[in-house]
Amino acid sequence: MAFTFKNLPVERDDLRVDVLTGLATSPKSIPPKYFYDEAGCRLFEAICAQPEYALCLTEQALMATCLSDIAAAMGPVECIVEPGAGDCIKVRRLLDALRPSHLVVMDIAGAPLAAAAEPLSRDYPDLAVTALGMDFIHNLEAAAPYLPTGQRLIYYPGSSIGNFPPDAATALLARFRQLAGTEGQLLIGFDLKKDPQLLHAAYNDAAGVTAAFNLNLLERLNRELGADFDPARFRHYAFYNPVVGRIEMHLVSLAEQDVKVAGQRFHFTVGETLHTEHSYKFRCDEFSTIANTAGWSLKASWEHNGFAVQLYG
Ligand code: AVI
Repeated sequence: MAFTFKNLPVERDDLRVDVLTGLATSPKSIPPKYFYDEAGCRLFEAICAQPEYALCLTEQALMATCLSDIAAAMGPVECIVEPGAGDCIKVRRLLDALRPSHLVVMDIAGAPLAAAAEPLSRDYPDLAVTALGMDFIHNLEAAAPYLPTGQRLIYYPGSSIGNFPPDAATALLARFRQLAGTEGQLLIGFDLKKDPQLLHAAYNDAAGVTAAFNLNLLERLNRELGADFDPARFRHYAFYNPVVGRIEMHLVSLAEQDVKVAGQRFHFTVGETLHTEHSYKFRCDEFSTIANTAGWSLKASWEHNGFAVQLYG
């Protein structure tokens, strides 16, 4: 059926400003959304196939096993909305089970999103597909005019919510609530707290793919901001911090060094960190408290192998 693609202006996603600001703070940091250039997306796909990083495969297994229960708990849905849809693969399972009339997918990388979403309109002839290239984190409201009226389901899989600090996660869930409307629902997947050794291994895979993903950020800055990082002089360092319940991912400087980024010079001492990502892990009750604060009420919950999918209304 119909396929529509709109690239909405990405106003606040300014790599240069964000990176220069992050490098000027202490500790130095860069927002994790900048991992996902073309090479970063490929490396993330490879992470998902690593035996230690069970998150993606576990979520898929859970969705496959519980799909009919999930669909029954949801009831009829007219429009599925997936922020950060990327390759648009995960949503196919829901399309098969729910047969909605509309699908709205959004992602910061508009062109790859359009390429991934367009085939859906051919594979599901009764489905109207809208792909929005947009920064849904800062500008979710811009999607509202593209949503039809009727029962909406926001689908946010993959524990992407874990990459936001708690306040920002609550704020994002509250914006999902507004977009879904009072009758709308949220189906969300998140990684659970578990044996810290398992979590540690997941972000330190033996093949070094997560390390390459982390270090790729420096290659991106070299390419896109004319920086002169030497990735060999930084070490991927990821660990689980049980006090705050999160994986922390860092690039630690192996030497005293100066780096130029977008014409500005930054000094790194030996052992100084460039913080690149937090990945929060939750207990189900902890997550429900966050979702409640954002205006959602738990309808149903499924768990498998340290991963949870919850339905809110
Ligand atoms: C996308 N996100 C949920 C991943 C995570 O586990 O936090 C990103 C990632 N970082 C390192 N490995 C995977």
